[in-house]
Amino acid sequence: MIATKKIEFGDFQTPPGLAREIADFLRDSGETADIVVEPTCGRGSFVAAAMTAFPRAKAIYGFDINPAYVCEAANAAGQQDGRKLHLERRNFFQIDWTEFFSMLTGTVLVIGNPPWVTNSALGTLESDNLPEKTNFQGHNGFAAKTGKANFDISEWMLIKLTGALHRRVGCIAMLCKTSTARKLLRYAWLNRLNIGRCSLHLIDAQKHFGASVNAGLLIVHTGTVGCATTACVYPNLSFNRKSSTFGLAGKELVADVDEYQRLQDLDGASYYTWRSGVKHDAAGVMEFKHENGQFTNGRNEICNLELTYLFPLLKSSDIANGRLTPDRYVLVTQRTPSDDTASVMRNAPKTWSYLLAHADALDQRRSVIYAKRPRFSVFGIGDYTFAPWKVTISGLYKNCRFNVIGKHHDKPIVLDDTCYFIPCASEAEACLVCDLLNSDICQRFLRSQVFLDAKRPVTVDILNRIDLKKVAEHVNRSLEAQQYLSAAAGFNDKQPLLVFAGKTGY
Ligand SMILES: C[S@@+](CC[C@H](N)C(=O)[O-])C[C@H]1O[C@@H](n2cnc3c(N)ncnc32)[C@H](O)[C@@H]1O
Repeated sequence: MIATKKIEFGDFQTPPGLAREIADFLRDSGETADIVVEPTCGRGSFVAAAMTAFPRAKAIYGFDINPAYVCEAANAAGQQDGRKLHLERRNFFQIDWTEFFSMLTGTVLVIGNPPWVTNSALGTLESDNLPEKTNFQGHNGFAAKTGKANFDISEWMLIKLTGALHRRVGCIAMLCKTSTARKLLRYAWLNRLNIGRCSLHLIDAQKHFGASVNAGLLIVHTGTVGCATTACVYPNLSFNRKSSTFGLAGKELVADVDEYQRLQDLDGASYYTWRSGVKHDAAGVMEFKHENGQFTNGRNEICNLELTYLFPLLKSSDIANGRLTPDRYVLVTQRTPSDDTASVMRNAPKTWSYLLAHADALDQRRSVIYAKRPRFSVFGIGDYTFAPWKVTISGLYKNCRFNVIGKHHDKPIVLDDTCYFIPCASEAEACLVCDLLNSDICQRFLRSQVFLDAKRPVTVDILNRIDLKKVAEHVNRSLEAQQYLSAAAGFNDKQPLLVFAGKTGY
């Protein structure tokens, strides 16, 4: 019960020593504060630290939803020294932050560490510790269904605070996941909020919070106009030794703005449509080890199945580690998403019996992508799934190398849903595309965009930015590329991409 509450309220109290280090660092790097605000103050580590580091602050506000924490924060803050200390039990979501800041005069420093929890975790707990409107990222229905609309509560809170403070001079200095910091900045830059001098200072979250996440202190200055849409990353709580500068390129963030700008001419049309692998959300019953001529599922049952719907499978870990000979198979029950799976009954009765016997796992799949679709459906399939050759990369690993995969025992190898790939008609086409993607210049371009600490460093948005025609020009392989890229653009109905037509000199 206590553990559940900790999850629900994203409750990771900042150790007082770290809060002091952060407050002192802010003061020593020139921050000033007439007013200090700790929006989710917990036991008050930041309240106490800010009182010491900013002795000239006229007022300090600390709010938390947990009344016991508010009492503890009052104890942590100790004797008041004539300044106004306002500690109150308040729900972040019920505060009108624009109105709140408008009542304060002077420079505002917002400091703290908002809850570490996502809306989907709260959904699982059936918690209502959520903002009223959650689609603030403006995702469409499909993105919401496929999980893109999942967000950190702290992201929502930081967006609220920045939006409420951006018209006046202030500073927001909050601990958060590095991914949350990036999402906030992307939102603020795209929505033209008045922010500038942004930096991210990495901390060791394992050491301080016992949590294996990438986290840091995000510093954002508000009330500044016409600033660059970039932020510097530092390995610690200092401004020495910058490790990188990330920023906005078009509508997306890139990890290394300088390198990206050097290679910007490779940012263009993708020609091919990048695909992801098969999704089924039931590995225990849909995937099989193949040993000594037998198929064994994840429940350790030996399964007697026709080969009709079984396909050799490579997973992200295989691709990232160069293990390209499959030892696993997966059941792919359809060729297109609209296929009726009842055909399995006619074509492969043993497979159909197997599916019925394991319907417990399949019927319970929670994702709405399976709702209103034939029983035992899979997702992320089409003609491309069965292409004889593929050029693939894992989305989950830092390894940005691409691999060519072909058939195994005369069946096309399929990939899991954490891999991305380009379907190819021939080995020659796949090898050329793979060579282009692995070329030095393309790898540099890719790495300039990839955030290596992200859960999915390589995304389809990043892959879609690679202009293979431009890459081919750089590595002097335009002539070979021409035939394949023209055909790919035509096949994918990307008429405007038929730029090779009529050109001479290739
Ligand atoms: C990650 S902890 C950090 C606490 C404190 N800021 C610190 O740095 O030690 C997040 C805090 O947010 C509080 N919290 C969670 N949901 C809240 C809400 N809706 N309104 C206000 N506080 C909330 C929790 O009780 C918890 O104390």
